Amino acid sequence: MHCCNLLLTFVAFIFCVISLCNGKPHIVVILADDYGYNDIGYHAKFHHSDMKTPFLDSLAMSGIKLENYYVQPICSPSRSQLMSGRYQIHTGLQHSVIKPTQANGLPLDNIILPEQLRQCGYDTHMVGKWHLGFYENSYLPWNRGFNSYFGYLTGGEDYYTKYRCWTKDCCGFDMDSNEGPTNETYGEYSAHLFARKAKEAIDKTDKSKPMFLYIALQSVHSPMEVPDSYLKPFEHIKDYNRMMYGGMVAAMDEAIKNITDHLKSANMWNDTILIFSADNGGQTLSGGNNWPLRGRKATLWEGGVRGVGFVHSEALKLPKPNYKSNKEMIHISDWFPTIMSASNCPLVNNTQPLDGFDQWQTISKYAPSKRSEILHNIDPLFTPLYTGTKFKGNTVRMGFDTSVHAGIRSDDWKLLTGEQGDDRWIEPPEWNQTESWVSPLENPEHPGFPTNSDPAKLVRLFNIANDPYERLEVSERYPDIVDTLLVKLAAYNATAVPVRYPPLDPNSNPKYHGGFWGPWEK
Ligand SMILES: *[C@@H]1O[C@H](CO)[C@@H](O)[C@H](O)[C@H]1NC(C)=O
Ligand SMILES: *[C@@H]1O[C@H](CO)[C@@H](O)[C@H](O)[C@H]1NC(C)=O
Ligand SMILES: *[C@@H]1O[C@H](CO)[C@@H](O)[C@H](O)[C@H]1NC(C)=O
Ligand SMILES: *[C@@H]1O[C@H](CO)[C@@H](O)[C@H](O)[C@H]1NC(C)=O
Ligand SMILES: *[C@@H]1O[C@H](CO)[C@@H](O)[C@H](O)[C@H]1NC(C)=O
Ligand SMILES: *[C@@H]1O[C@H](CO)[C@@H](O)[C@H](O)[C@H]1NC(C)=O
Repeated sequence: MHCCNLLLTFVAFIFCVISLCNGKPHIVVILADDYGYNDIGYHAKFHHSDMKTPFLDSLAMSGIKLENYYVQPICSPSRSQLMSGRYQIHTGLQHSVIKPTQANGLPLDNIILPEQLRQCGYDTHMVGKWHLGFYENSYLPWNRGFNSYFGYLTGGEDYYTKYRCWTKDCCGFDMDSNEGPTNETYGEYSAHLFARKAKEAIDKTDKSKPMFLYIALQSVHSPMEVPDSYLKPFEHIKDYNRMMYGGMVAAMDEAIKNITDHLKSANMWNDTILIFSADNGGQTLSGGNNWPLRGRKATLWEGGVRGVGFVHSEALKLPKPNYKSNKEMIHISDWFPTIMSASNCPLVNNTQPLDGFDQWQTISKYAPSKRSEILHNIDPLFTPLYTGTKFKGNTVRMGFDTSVHAGIRSDDWKLLTGEQGDDRWIEPPEWNQTESWVSPLENPEHPGFPTNSDPAKLVRLFNIANDPYERLEVSERYPDIVDTLLVKLAAYNATAVPVRYPPLDPNSNPKYHGGFWGPWEK
């Protein structure tokens, strides 16, 4: 008993010494793009994946792995929640991503994280992929709280040329900064470029202030591109995308090592809280893997939304070994209030109610999560491939239209409605499978049939605590739980704002803007 109290006092003492108590830590958030559950070394080694991340593993092992951590299934939505702390139903970004040709963005009435931190005395910098809208100047990252910015305004560029085509007549270079667009980095692989720019940001940060640095890497999104020198350890992988992806992951691991080395030489590392997160699940069509989770990027299956994440801080080296994995439920929308709390910063001008929770005690002191529920999404514009034609009858149950693509998690239960996209369990292609092996890939809802055999099923229920791989659909066994979750979805839906999803705007074409993607209004 005594020794535990002593231990706690000691932990509290460490926190104060390392300036997390009264002072303000540096905050570094690193977002990896399309990085799958089975693509980080510490998961890979248990799930037949050959991905190797020695540096990320060492950071996570000496930090805290978040092992009940959720993100959104695609790019702009996850980023919007990270920056605003709010669900997409409250920002209008329920549907798809922000396309480069759309006059759309994360609404300006959200005072986002960098602006909040800047008003609290932080020097704020961003390097990498924005993807939260740029059609008007006011949506650009340096007009939303970042003192400096260097990176991609949209997504899906070439790693070397930074070229991005929307249609064959609508192409341009995507590399912008608070000093204007630039073509000077043409040819430089983006993992190296963004590591270099992150180091420059660290060098130029005002040393009398705490720093907020947001690094949104292009790695490891498609296209499959990486310098050959990273491919050696993966040459045995026969699947081309997976082999290339291995190299891309290795380059990312090295980039993050370089950035942290620079924080050390700048004498900032001991005062830094580093947060690493995937933006969504792996894209199995482009080398990523989420085995043994079901589904992939762009689905609400666990493979789309259960994210890789960890926190590292020298000050978080807590003594108990079993503290290394945090199994509390944490969601990407929680970072906004959590970072504000870790920095001792008040929310200013905040007229918008947050959906995220302050999880700082959950992360730093192992307090129970403040969250028992996650709204995965309600997307009224999701295009059903099969059910749209099949279900013309009344699909409303407990006030919620079950033909609409939606998902909610509440305690152990997860309810999915509408069509859910790719619902397979996709093995890592490099799995040699020499041992005799019974495939679990047939649809457990319909033994003997492949998955996707029953797209017309509009309501699906899983107990994620007992069945994290979503093998056993139990909606017929627990109709009351289905009803309870539908009532919750209906209540969320009642608070939703209209979806912002404007049509293509021809004025967005880079040919009118010097060959670059950039704002075309104001
Ligand atoms: C598959 O076999 C190769 C060659 O023996 C080996 O290097 C690799 O680690 C194996 N991969 C897995 C996932 O078992
Ligand atoms: C990391 O730094 C080393 C040494 O400066 C350099 O050779 C390498 O290219 C860098 N890698 C990345 C991804 O930035
Ligand atoms: C960081 O803290 C450790 C342990 O207290 C100390 O040994 C090291 O010198 C510190 N490093 C810097 C760069 O301040
Ligand atoms: C917040 O409010 C203060 C005081 O009213 C104002 O000076 C500041 O510009 C506002 N910040 C934002 C981002 O609206
Ligand atoms: C959400 O609410 C709107 C407005 O009441 C309604 O039109 C829509 O059908 C509801 N969506 C679902 C999925 O029930
Ligand atoms: C960028 O540089 C490349 C290579 O020199 C060139 O082909 C391209 O036209 C340049 N783009 C712009 C917008 O200047």
